[in-house]
Amino acid sequence: MIRDLGESDLPWMAEVESELFGASAWSRELIEHDYVYGFTRYRGIEADGRLAGYAVYGYDGDAFHLMNLAVLPAMRRRGLARALMEDFLAEARRVGAPDVWLEVAVTNDAALALYRAYGFEDVRVRRKYYQPEGVDALVMRRALSTYEPGSP
Ligand SMILES: CC(C)(COP(=O)(O)OP(=O)(O)OC[C@H]1O[C@@H](n2cnc3c(N)ncnc32)[C@H](O)[C@@H]1OP(=O)(O)O)[C@@H](O)C(=O)NCCC(=O)NCCS
Repeated sequence: MIRDLGESDLPWMAEVESELFGASAWSRELIEHDYVYGFTRYRGIEADGRLAGYAVYGYDGDAFHLMNLAVLPAMRRRGLARALMEDFLAEARRVGAPDVWLEVAVTNDAALALYRAYGFEDVRVRRKYYQPEGVDALVMRRALSTYEPGSP
């Protein structure tokens, strides 16, 4: 159900990005460049026989980081983001990361609820992180020492 995205999935991902994130979406060019050159994994989740969401994670230089996560609107509240979070946390643990990090818009109630359910704690606010909208980001961290697979 969860698999690596292939290059042929990237145009689909770029379209979903644009629909969900508007002006601050990752562009197709950025996605295709990062896919080839970044230290990231692109993971997709299938439901009802088609791709329904994705997560991008990996080392961003010095920390294991969730860089992107989305589920198609019609597929939400079915546990797909949970499954992607489990995949992310399992990989972070497999590579020996002590903790995991992410940023989330302070206005994104659904994502904040998801991350808090997974034990992420507030670290600091990055002012006007999301451009061009100028929305603040909350930096969140979760230690992996307390993580048990399958139970947030
Ligand atoms: C955030 C997002 C990925 C959640 O995806 P999802 O597949 O619907 O999430 P799940 O069904 O796995 O939900 C897991 C838990 O997250 C929380 N949650 C998810 N959506 C929520 C919402 N709209 N309101 C409140 N809590 C929510 C709940 O705790 C939920 O558990 P529950 O259903 O047992 O109550 C999805 O809403 C999305 O793609 N949003 C747009 C993109 C985005 O904002 N990505 C995050 C960028 S940082």
